[in-house]
Amino acid sequence: MCAPTRDLANSSSGRAAWTELSSEIRSCQLCALGKTRTNAVVYRGGTAPWIVFVGEAPGAAEDRSGLPFVGRSGARLDAAIARLGLGSEEYGVLNVLKCRPPNNRFDAAAARTCRPYLDRQLGLLRPRVLVPLGRHALRALDPEAPPILRSAGRSIRDGPPSIFPLLHPAATLRSRRWAERWEQDVDALSRWLPGAKPPYRAEA
Ligand code: URA
Repeated sequence: MCAPTRDLANSSSGRAAWTELSSEIRSCQLCALGKTRTNAVVYRGGTAPWIVFVGEAPGAAEDRSGLPFVGRSGARLDAAIARLGLGSEEYGVLNVLKCRPPNNRFDAAAARTCRPYLDRQLGLLRPRVLVPLGRHALRALDPEAPPILRSAGRSIRDGPPSIFPLLHPAATLRSRRWAERWEQDVDALSRWLPGAKPPYRAEA
C-alpha cells in the first residue's frame, strides 16, 4: 500500500524539500533548453493534491508566466477540472519537461535529463491518481501502456497511483473529432474518479 498523499503545507521536511526542488528546477542548466527558456515551469495546484495532471512541456504562455497550462490548452484543462468538481487543493498540474522546447517540439533527450525532477516531484506529492495528458506524458509514466488513443478514457493501472490517461488538450483544440473524444474521456474520468478519491483528509 502506498503512503497517503502528504500535505506539503503541514510537513516542514516536505515543504523544505519541495522549495529546494523548485529552486533547483528554476535555475537548471543541465540541458540546452536552459539557455532558450524565459522561465522554467514547475507546478501549479494544491499542497496535497490527490490527483495530478501531467502535461508534456511548457508552451509560449507557460514560458512567459512560469506556470503550467495557462494558455489555450490550459483553459481546456481547467474546464475539465471544473467539470470533475475538483477543489483547488485537490489537484496539481505539472509537466514532464520543465522548459519550453523550441517550436514546441517535444525533446526526448531533454526529457531524460529532466526525468529526476518529475520523479522527485511525484515522490513528494504522492498523488493517488495520475492523469497523463497526451502520448509523451503517457510514455513517461507508463512505457508499456498501449498507444494514447487506446489508453485514453480508462484506467490503465490500478494504484495508488492509478493512471487514467487523457488526450493532450492541444490536440483537442485542433480537431473537432479529438474535441468530442476529449469530452467523452473526461466524462469517463468523472464516472471513475469517485472510486479513487481518498476517504481520508491528507496527512503531514
Ligand atoms: N502543454 C503542455 O503539455 N504543458 C503546458 O504547460 C502547456 C501546454
